[in-house]
Amino acid sequence: MNSQIADPGLAEEGEKSYRWAYEHMPALTRTIGKIVDQKPLQGRKVGVCLHVTKETSVLVTGLKMLGADVYLAAANPLSTQDDIAAYLASQGVNVFAWRGQTSEEYQESIRNILRGKPDIILDDGSDTHATVHEEPEFSDLSILGGTEETTTGIIRLKALEKTGKMRYPIIGVNNAYTKFLFDNRYGTGQSTIDGILRATSLLIAGKKFVVCSYGWVGRGIAMRARGLGALVIVTEVDPFRALEARMDGYEVLPIGEAAKVGDIFVTATGQFHVIRREHFSLMKDGVVLANAGHFNVEIDVGALEEMKIKKASVRKHVDEYTLKGGKKIYLIGEGRIANLVAAEGHPPEVMALSFSNQLLSAVYLAQHSGEMEKKVNDVPREIDRQVAVNTLEAMGIKIDTPTEEQVKYSESWKV
Ligand SMILES: NC(=O)c1ccc[n+]([C@@H]2O[C@H](COP(=O)([O-])OP(=O)(O)OC[C@H]3O[C@@H](n4cnc5c(N)ncnc54)[C@H](O)[C@@H]3O)[C@@H](O)[C@H]2O)c1
Repeated sequence: MNSQIADPGLAEEGEKSYRWAYEHMPALTRTIGKIVDQKPLQGRKVGVCLHVTKETSVLVTGLKMLGADVYLAAANPLSTQDDIAAYLASQGVNVFAWRGQTSEEYQESIRNILRGKPDIILDDGSDTHATVHEEPEFSDLSILGGTEETTTGIIRLKALEKTGKMRYPIIGVNNAYTKFLFDNRYGTGQSTIDGILRATSLLIAGKKFVVCSYGWVGRGIAMRARGLGALVIVTEVDPFRALEARMDGYEVLPIGEAAKVGDIFVTATGQFHVIRREHFSLMKDGVVLANAGHFNVEIDVGALEEMKIKKASVRKHVDEYTLKGGKKIYLIGEGRIANLVAAEGHPPEVMALSFSNQLLSAVYLAQHSGEMEKKVNDVPREIDRQVAVNTLEAMGIKIDTPTEEQVKYSESWKV
């Protein structure tokens, strides 16, 4: 356990960050307000493995307001905001998170939330669900159900589902419209650029900015980089998405070609070694590399380590690798999720949507897990819709309702 978690000064700082996020997440706080009197999580233990940010503190305190006892670990060793961890600990949350954990400390923190015997697990990346299923210490845990926040976690869980060994139903929060359309695109789009800017303080305009993937995250990053005046190049393996990128006006190149011309590279694929040894060899002097995908496997940092003749930390979150011949390559945040390592993660307004889905899915599991299949289930459509409605309400945006005549028209096969 890190002593910072019990630091009252840090907790006070954390409270300010919590309040800032709280004020800017009305979609979530309204959702909590609508059900708080029913205390739908009374007596339930909820194990949470999410990035410990100011936005997460609003979700966690919300779960407590609904009656839950919460155990919290971080979804990445470098993403924790220590002031938030300290604040939540001061509020009675069982916190096992601090910034800069070793891999072993990170894994042990996940075990610690499981030792709390949670009824429900909210996960991001599925390391917690994997630990439940892999480690004998947890073979007797009786879990009502869980959720998964991100694309990579859902892919892992679908693979587990195929083995027939999934022990409880999962709700795939990432697959809600009110999650991936907003969090993955606008949240990661803005916060990844934020991370690159905070880490490097370099100009984006006029740079050749390579985005590896045109998924939801890739689209958001490409859109925001273009907005800052970059010449954006997209790399893809999916022909539909490559075509879409091209028709959206981006240059599309294979990574072997993009590597020769790019100035800034961002990976966001969920895949392994997308930028690797042969690409480092082709790159220009002074390029910047960052990753926005969930795991630190998209940039082959091991190869960079082997190729270097010198390595120096030149700014906070920027390592300079000098290769044979003197070429320099700058890597942000050790190749880990740059928007959370070098910035603060997604803005609160967008996390209000994702975390409304998390919160309502936890309540749904508490009430309906017995009726659900042990597989990756979609967020119930009614919840997804409710999150959209709550968010529009919070933004003061009104929309139309179809007239009776229109309803009849759309239900009839006659024109
Ligand atoms: N940084 C964050 O805060 C954040 C937020 C949301 C999601 N994520 C993570 O970002 C990653 C992408 O998520 P998404 O929702 O965009 O997924 P997605 O499935 O919508 O898109 C992934 C894209 O990557 C492409 N791809 C796969 N291999 C590739 C390769 N070798 N080269 C180029 N493109 C390749 C796929 O064809 C696909 O279009 C996942 O790891 C996800 O967990 C991170």
